[in-house]
Order: sequence, then structure tokens, then C-alpha cells
Amino acid sequence: MRQQTTGEHPLVEPVIAWYDANARDLPWRAPGVPAWPVLISEVMLQQTPVNRVLPVWREWVERWPTPAALAAETPGEVIRAWGRLGYPRRALRLHEAAGVIVERHGGELPTDHAQLLALPGIGTYTAAAVATFAYGQRHAVVDVNVRRVHARAVTGDAHPQNNLSAAESALAQRLLPEHPRTAARWAIGVMELGALVCTARTPRCGDCPVEHLCAWRAAGSPAHDGPPRRGQAWAGTDRQVRGKLMAALRATRTPLTAAQLREAAPDDVLKDPRQRERCLAGLVEDGLVEPLPDDRYRLPH
Ligand code: ADE
Repeated sequence: MRQQTTGEHPLVEPVIAWYDANARDLPWRAPGVPAWPVLISEVMLQQTPVNRVLPVWREWVERWPTPAALAAETPGEVIRAWGRLGYPRRALRLHEAAGVIVERHGGELPTDHAQLLALPGIGTYTAAAVATFAYGQRHAVVDVNVRRVHARAVTGDAHPQNNLSAAESALAQRLLPEHPRTAARWAIGVMELGALVCTARTPRCGDCPVEHLCAWRAAGSPAHDGPPRRGQAWAGTDRQVRGKLMAALRATRTPLTAAQLREAAPDDVLKDPRQRERCLAGLVEDGLVEPLPDDRYRLPH
């Protein structure tokens, strides 16, 4: 039995004990995994479910075990290896970050939170996640699963609002145990509880280690109150069309003509006739697609 440290929030001990007994055995959580593969996992996991991330993460860490290895690659190969994870700008940002880690930090991911945050594409969440999960430091790691647990257990709301508020960040800080090792276990424990038990649609309150402390349960599990929650629309969206164009470009190392791209995203999947052009222009703008002088297109070299 872990000793209760005085001053910890009452949620901390039961959540950590629950995590120790119920955590998924995910490869980036194994002891001794270096910070670089942890960073890759955190970027991949941000908008993508674990089961889709697993095979791609394995391929990446085998192929590019260090920032230097990734930095030496062309952006196009990195985008290709991102496969169907979606939001492929994340791949470009990791590639850019790898370059900066080589130039500025001798190829080693910095341990300092502020230096992590200064890397391209590494925001508040990712810097805190790497500092916590790879280095055992004390930071508030706040993703949507964590926010939902906080909203229910402490605030008594069914869901957090769409945007992270100052009050939520303050709450996350207040809940954080003093001792870094405990803070790191709490951080991963709450995240896992939100992913496995305190889920968005059908929470498994009967399996929850802190149901007896939960403000939302105490209030009778009231429905969500506030502006509608943002879903991630897909069919007919620019994201879907961009995905089709990217899939075609990933599938070949030969540049594609405009006619070939038209086949990849034919008119009947478009919601308006300009959508394909607009999406292609957006991909070029984002640096994900390189237009060639002969009006063909390829992943960037
Ligand atoms: N383990 C560490 N970080 C994680 C995340 N973002 N999602 C799922 N498991 C994780």
C-alpha cells in the first residue's frame, strides 16, 4: 500500500492505485523508453486513437530511433510514413522539431520544460507530457480526457467546455501532487481513467475508483450544460478531400498530374466544385505538397 502523503487531493491516491492495477500495457510507457519515442507517441496520440497509432509508432521508432535520423529524411518520406493517421502537418512539425533538436541541442531532446516548449510544433500539452512521462517531472498535463475527469469529479459538469479556461488550468495545478514522482503517476493515471472509464459518451461509473468522490455523480449525473460540443465532422469536409489527395500522393513516388488528382478526389465526393482546388492549394500552402513546374504534384523533397 502506498503511503498517503499529507496535502494531496483525495482523488490522487485512488486514481494512482487504479492505474497501477488497470493501465494498458502500451509500448511508449515501458520503463526506459527514451524521450524521443515518447514525444513521437504524444504527437501521434493527440488526435488519433491508440490502436491506429500503435503500428505507425512502432515503424517510426524503428526507422528513426533518434532525432538526427528523422532530421536526415526528406519531409516527403516522413509524411508518407505518417500514413493514414490524419492531420499530417503533425508529421512535418516533428520533422522540423528533429532538425532543431539536432542544431540547438546536439541531437538530444532537452529535459527542460521551457526548451521543449520552444521547439516547433511542441505546445503546452506536448511539452508537459514529455517532461512528465519521459523525465518524471511535475507539470499539469491536460488533454481532453483529463479535462473531462476534472469537470466531472471536481466541478460537477458532464463535459468541459470547448476551450480550455484559466479556471481549468488553475484546477489542474491545484490537483497536482507536490512530489514530482507522484505528480507524474497522477498525470498518467487521470489520463487513463478518462480514456477507459470516465469516457465521453457512456462512462463506466461502476468501475470508477473515485465515484464516491465525484461531484457529477453526487449531483445526479446532470446532462451537459453549455454550447454544443464540437464533433469532428468528416464526410464532405475539406479534411476528407485533403485526405484523399494525400493518400494518392503517398501511394507513389512518381509526381501526379492534375487529372490523376481529380481521379483521387472525384467530383461526386466534393461538396462544391472548387473544393478540390481549394484543398490542393491548402496542402501546398501547408508545405505538405510540392507543385512542380510541369503542373505535376508530389510530396515535398
Ligand atoms: N500514454 C501517455 N500518453 C498517452 C496518451 N496521450 N494517450 C494514451 N496513452 C498515453
